[in-house]
Amino acid sequence: AAQGFALIRTHACALAPGDVRVVSGKTREFQGPPAMPFVPGGDVSGVVAAVADGEPRLRMGDAVVARFNGSPRGGLAEYTVVKTALTTIKPNGVDFCHAAAIASSGVAALVLAKMLNHGDRVLILGGSGGVGSDLVQLARRFGASFVAATSSDVQLVRRLGADDAVDYREHNVWELERYKREPFDVVIDLVGGGWHSARRCSASSPGILKCGRDGGRFWTLTPDTAWFEMHSIADAIRVFLAPALWRRVYTFFNRSIPRYQFVLALPEGHESRAELLALIESRALDVTLDPAGPFPFTTAGVRAAFDLQASRHARGKAVVSLLS
Ligand SMILES: NC(=O)c1ccc[n+]([C@@H]2O[C@H](COP(=O)([O-])OP(=O)(O)OC[C@H]3O[C@@H](n4cnc5c(N)ncnc54)[C@H](OP(=O)(O)O)[C@@H]3O)[C@@H](O)[C@H]2O)c1
Repeated sequence: AAQGFALIRTHACALAPGDVRVVSGKTREFQGPPAMPFVPGGDVSGVVAAVADGEPRLRMGDAVVARFNGSPRGGLAEYTVVKTALTTIKPNGVDFCHAAAIASSGVAALVLAKMLNHGDRVLILGGSGGVGSDLVQLARRFGASFVAATSSDVQLVRRLGADDAVDYREHNVWELERYKREPFDVVIDLVGGGWHSARRCSASSPGILKCGRDGGRFWTLTPDTAWFEMHSIADAIRVFLAPALWRRVYTFFNRSIPRYQFVLALPEGHESRAELLALIESRALDVTLDPAGPFPFTTAGVRAAFDLQASRHARGKAVVSLLS
């Protein structure tokens, strides 16, 4: 394998919204696919089959988990090339499917949880998805005093440890009196578009989220729509950069509305995955795999996994198992 890379025999590949975006071709100029034929998939676990000489952390035969390099590609194959800097040794006590499931979603959840202040009251929009199902648990672990989440599966969110759960099909979470009486310090949007409601929470008409002056923060991992087209720099500015920068600057100065932050939650390095794997092994983190999976590594199996991921209603992670 080339310096900085390892070849792994893939055992599991977890899908994420980014995989659906890449396969759709809607962000092709930024994320690929570069050409056909194309192998999708980016979050993988498996066993090292080859590694460059002088690589200090990895040896042939090591069980590992790795996330994509640049954009998700290459993971839905019997062998895949991973960047060693993004590869972490998998402990024996964590199976390959659960390990693949945290490769990027778990890391994003961990990054968000570590941004919390001790005692924060937190609302997660999208608590049963790939990131949310980990974040509900990690938010509490990293200091939140109260965690609520929206979901169409309130039982799952409660089972994961949320103090309260709101079925967004039945209730408008932004109008709930119990939250207006005791507003949140932080709203974390994993769905997209929540800012338009959050910005109406202001010092003059208190809502469910505190205003910036009182420490209210709105964090999002997504632009206003979860699915978007981006083919040019102008598109990137319109979809991502302009709203994120303008809102950040505007809410920095205007403290009568919550403070906005678009979070890029995929750091380089392998440490976050190691931390998550240790939490899973010690049973402090219960990673959710959608019950329809793990999907078999067949055309029908991979299509079903993609359909589930594209539906935006996966319970936790959609995972393909390459172990027969
Ligand atoms: N910025 C970064 O570094 C970074 C890193 C990782 C992920 N992300 C992004 O973060 C977002 C979340 O990722 P994910 O893996 O958690 O996605 P996911 O597994 O597809 O979860 C989507 C969530 O949205 C909810 N949802 C779907 N339709 C809804 C609706 N109409 N109203 C309210 N809620 C709805 C779902 O809840 P129900 O199933 O209950 O309906 C589910 O909880 C994605 O946009 C992803 O691209 C960004």
